[in-house]
Amino acid sequence: MNVLVLSASKHGSTDEIAQAIGDLIASHGIETIVMSVDDIYDIDYYDAIVLGSAVYAGHWLKSARRFVDEHAEALASKPVWLFSSGPIGTPPHPSGNDAVDVSSIMKKINARDHWVFAGKLDKSKLNFTERAVILAVRAHEGDFRNWKEIHAWATTIARQLIKEFPRSTI
Ligand SMILES: Cc1cc2nc3c(=O)[nH]c(=O)nc-3n(C[C@H](O)[C@H](O)[C@H](O)COP(=O)(O)O)c2cc1C
Repeated sequence: MNVLVLSASKHGSTDEIAQAIGDLIASHGIETIVMSVDDIYDIDYYDAIVLGSAVYAGHWLKSARRFVDEHAEALASKPVWLFSSGPIGTPPHPSGNDAVDVSSIMKKINARDHWVFAGKLDKSKLNFTERAVILAVRAHEGDFRNWKEIHAWATTIARQLIKEFPRSTI
C-alpha cells in the first residue's frame, strides 16, 4: 500500500505538519510519500491520500483547491483525509471548523474526515500586505501547532489503513 501526503503552504508550517503526519504513518510500516501539492501530477499509483492546506482569509490556498478540481474523479475513488492549518493564539482563533468551510470539497471527493490544526505565525516571513492584515486583526505571533494532536490524528489514519488493507499489500 502506498500513501501520499500532500500539502499547500505559503510559509512552510503546513508542509511541516504534512511531514509529521507522513512520518507517523510511515512508522506503522506503511509506504508513505510526502510532497507539496505543486509537485504532483499523477495520483494513480497511490492507494490513499492525505491532503492539507494552510488557511488564508478563510479559504484553502488556490493550489490545493486546483488540485482537488483537477483530480476530483481519482480522489473520489480512494480513501482521502483532509486537514487545514490556520488558527492562531491561545486558545487558537478562529476555533475548530469556523476557520474554513471545506464541506463542498469533502462532498466532491467523498473525503472521510477533515481536521483543523492550529498554525504558526512568524511575522518576519510575511509580506507587507500580510503584515497589514495581521496587524488589523491583532493576531498573535507564535507557533501554536499541537504536535500531540497531529500525531493522534495521523495514528487514527494509520490504524484505519492497516485494518482496511491486508498486511501483504502494505
Ligand atoms: C494574511 C494572513 C491571513 C490569514 N488568514 C487566516 C484565516 O482566515 N483563518 C485562519 O485560521 N488562519 C489564518 N491565517 C493564519 C495562517 O493560516 C497560519 O499562519 C498558517 O499556519 C500558515 O501556514 P503556512 O506557514 O503553511 O503558510 C492567516 C495568516 C496570514 C498571514
